[in-house]
Amino acid sequence: MMKYALVTGGSRGIGRAICIKLAGMGYHVLINYRHNDAEALATLQAVREKGADGELMKCDVTDGAAVSEMLSAWMQSHPDGYIEVLVNNAGIRKDNLMLWMTGEEWAHVLDTGLNGFFHVTQPLLKNMLARRFGRIITIVSLSGIKGLPGQTNYSAAKGGLIAATKALAQETAKRRVTVNAVAPGFIHTDMTGQLDEDELKRLIPAGRFGEPEEVAGLVGFLASPEASYITGEVISINGGLYT
Ligand code: NAI
Repeated sequence: MMKYALVTGGSRGIGRAICIKLAGMGYHVLINYRHNDAEALATLQAVREKGADGELMKCDVTDGAAVSEMLSAWMQSHPDGYIEVLVNNAGIRKDNLMLWMTGEEWAHVLDTGLNGFFHVTQPLLKNMLARRFGRIITIVSLSGIKGLPGQTNYSAAKGGLIAATKALAQETAKRRVTVNAVAPGFIHTDMTGQLDEDELKRLIPAGRFGEPEEVAGLVGFLASPEASYITGEVISINGGLYT
């Protein structure tokens, strides 16, 4: 039977690497993204090059009604299948010191990271529980564990996701649905493109930024049957940065 995985924010960066990893594991990959059709198509192409297939699911995860409509339409047209792996990867940063932070900067970051998690995860849970197998993996951040100055909004979103992960894991464990979070440090993507890498890498014991494929490797492991007894965990992947 066809196995389905959904990756939010799958058009580029870490999300794209995760789509490719899951394709290599034999998943049919549903690639969610917000607006960049060309990048999303490039991800789909890369999925196909792995010998798997996938489809694009364009939708803004901050829009609960749109997400719910998209997922119910998908479920109706796939009565025999279900999404067994969900990777909540969509996330944005809008850094500012709290002193100058606007309500919009606060709300948009929370809406995307934290509310997006609810909008996508809630409708998919029922099938995972009924079929007694599921994997929910959420990409959080070092910022959500230790807090980073200039990121009260982002730290709040990621910290909230960590707590939600731990709570949900306890609700679903008996039905073999595991819920975990992956907390990257500095990874080479568009999100970190503006940062001063030479300065920052001196703080990293491994002496370098990580690659999206390294994060995808960990996500692939958590999605696999080998990781069945790991749940409610937050696993850091940060080159040795103290968390
Ligand atoms: P990116 O900016 O390259 O990609 C973000 C993805 O999220 C894009 O595919 C975009 O379409 C999608 N997205 C954003 N808002 C969305 C929305 N409202 N609805 C649907 N999709 C939306 O970022 P990157 O670096 O690949 O980040 C992926 C995840 O990893 C994020 O959750 C980020 O917070 C997290 N992360 C990244 C780190 C890094 O160093 N790059 C470090 C720690 C965590």
